[in-house]
Amino acid sequence: MRRGRTYRIVARVVPVVLLTAAGTVAQVQAQSGRTPVPARHGMVASSHHLGSTIGQEILQKGGNAVDAAVATAFALAVVYPSGGNIGGGGFLVYHGADGTVTTFNFREKAPLAATPTMFLGADGEVRDNSNHDGPLSIGVPGTVAGLALAHQRLGSLRWKDVVQPAYQLADRGFEVNWSFYRFLKWVAENKDIVPSTAEVFLKRDRTPYQPGETLKQKDLAKTLKRIRDKGRDGFYRGDTARALAAFMRENGGLITGEDLARYQAVEQPAVHSTYRGYDIYSMGPPSSGGVVLLEMLNILEGFDLAQMGHNSAMYMHVVTEAMRRAYADRARHLGDPAFNPDIPVDRLISKEYAHELRGTIDLFRASESDSAAFNDVYVSEETTHISVVDREGNAVSLTYTLEESYGSKIVAKGLGFLLNNEMGDFNAIPGRTDRRGKIGTAPNLIAPEKRMLSNMTPTVVARDGQPILVIGTPGGRTIINTVLQIILNVIDHGMDVAQAVEAGRFHHQWLPDTTLVEEFAISRDTWQLYEQMGHATKIRTSRGRPSTQGQAMGIFVDRDAKRLLGAADSRGFSAKALGF
Ligand code: DON
Repeated sequence: MRRGRTYRIVARVVPVVLLTAAGTVAQVQAQSGRTPVPARHGMVASSHHLGSTIGQEILQKGGNAVDAAVATAFALAVVYPSGGNIGGGGFLVYHGADGTVTTFNFREKAPLAATPTMFLGADGEVRDNSNHDGPLSIGVPGTVAGLALAHQRLGSLRWKDVVQPAYQLADRGFEVNWSFYRFLKWVAENKDIVPSTAEVFLKRDRTPYQPGETLKQKDLAKTLKRIRDKGRDGFYRGDTARALAAFMRENGGLITGEDLARYQAVEQPAVHSTYRGYDIYSMGPPSSGGVVLLEMLNILEGFDLAQMGHNSAMYMHVVTEAMRRAYADRARHLGDPAFNPDIPVDRLISKEYAHELRGTIDLFRASESDSAAFNDVYVSEETTHISVVDREGNAVSLTYTLEESYGSKIVAKGLGFLLNNEMGDFNAIPGRTDRRGKIGTAPNLIAPEKRMLSNMTPTVVARDGQPILVIGTPGGRTIINTVLQIILNVIDHGMDVAQAVEAGRFHHQWLPDTTLVEEFAISRDTWQLYEQMGHATKIRTSRGRPSTQGQAMGIFVDRDAKRLLGAADSRGFSAKALGF
């Protein structure tokens, strides 16, 4: 037994030697897979090893979890621009070692000139996918305001010191990996790509940088320098804002200098409930993530999930029924609270309501999703999550996005960063809800300066006032279900954080009324038993091939052993948990 165990660790944990900013050599462990990365003092898990490296160096320099998360987020905007960004938006959940819990909402906003029907043609249909493609799809970015606000409230290092590493990465360049190369190749082959994007991502002869070659992003470096030196004003005012507004004017976008100057990130309370004695803190509206997660956990608390067993047919059945009910409430009630003052958050996350819903679940038969009222929205491919725990035990859970992979694929001329296509997260056709995937309910219709509804679910699980699990993931509508299953894997099934992140997942979102299951996540006989209960089921695919659900980043605080255990989902190409 011992030999086997030793062999597994040697095979899966690759030691990396890093030269830290302080000049000392730190022995760290990098991982992808089923073995958690152990560390004593601090840990960063992110989608790119350079992002995690920078976050870890900030921790080693004495920065706290917020400093490290902000530095990592800026770094990912350089090295992982499919989801890392300064042109998008997101959410940050903070749980301090002193018990302080707060969140930051930096979701993009609709521009002042936006209207509820701005994407519709004369026939009442969305014109040419314009809510996802082209300049109209771009929401007013929130990332820089959000990171600046979180840092101002809770950071400990100087702002310029947390932005500087990203500036250096952009200016000096970094090595293109295979995953990024695929995007660069797509840019080279796509005739419709805007010239300002090609200028940034292709060589002078319009060929892509090859894996292993160095990509420098000089325009992005200049933008980051302005942010480094002037804080949020380096983005929302002055040269950056002027160039962005001019680009929008010239290219048919709506965002103006006024939109940028008016943008504010918001600090707001976390949504909170308990699950089997653990405290769960997550993101409230305009993300649907926290409310839907807590509603599902409350429903599931009344079942003996451990006894049912992980991914058994009975387990999948009751979890699916919880998903169905909570996602229906998402469509009915959730949107930007600034425009929907009456969202019944307290009721949706109450134990009483969960009890009522539980009473509607038949233990042996699937319910039907009633499509008469409302429905499904678009799900896309990229976003990214960062989990951090520092030396004091403070925790940050941060998810941010451009919406689709590389967002709108539009770089504003001279600015070097990709802009989001988040306007596609609004309900595009008022009143149109159908079984095939349109949703037109009122809370998430477009209005000037409104934030579009999100699924992002950065979450911290705590016990006795101390964080024990920091978790989040990309994955569009699947995000909430991925976070749910990881929490259940840890609390109900006793998995360690790496097993919990790696385990096969499934997804049901009320409508379409079909459960999507990762290939090999369940056995054939489980599949049959589950379908016999009345569940329509498919293997998750993307472009005709089996695909995966999410890319979670988790950190578990093992208080007894005084160590941190990190897990970077092996579904991610370059994801890394790094600790020291
Ligand atoms: O806010 C949301 O829910 C979406 N814009 C997130 C998109 C996403 O996660 C795509 N990534 N896989």
